[in-house]
Amino acid sequence: MKHHILLSVVLFGALGVSGAQAADPERGKALHEQYCIGCHANMTGGKPELLYTRRDRRVHDLAGLRRQVQRCEQNLELKWFDDDLESVVEYLNKNYYHF
Ligand code: HEC
Repeated sequence: MKHHILLSVVLFGALGVSGAQAADPERGKALHEQYCIGCHANMTGGKPELLYTRRDRRVHDLAGLRRQVQRCEQNLELKWFDDDLESVVEYLNKNYYHF
């Protein structure tokens, strides 16, 4: 147990120093709920997930998903960092698109 705590401290320390952050679907979920879900819910009668799962959805591959997330994000002028964007892409892909 003690070792685990120590290891976490070392790992987080290393991440902090390098500034490197991987895509984190949990963070993606939070960002998505904060910035994205409301508008999509308005468009779908309160079922935002329909936008991602409907038969004629616009996104057909991972590159397309990244482009569309970026398009919506830029429309909103959120100025996300790459790892914010990747986190949301990862969250959407993991839960809805499965590319
Ligand atoms: C102000 C409204 C609005 C907001 C806020 C918004 N979107 Fe969208 N989103 C749209 C519209 C409009 C479409 C296009 C739907 C269509 O043409 O069928 C869309 C489509 C999408 C799609 C493609 C769905 C498909 O058909 O496969 C994704 C993915 C997406 N948005 C991600 C996001 C993300 C991530 C955010 C938050 C950063 C976000 N959107 C915020 C309006 C919005």
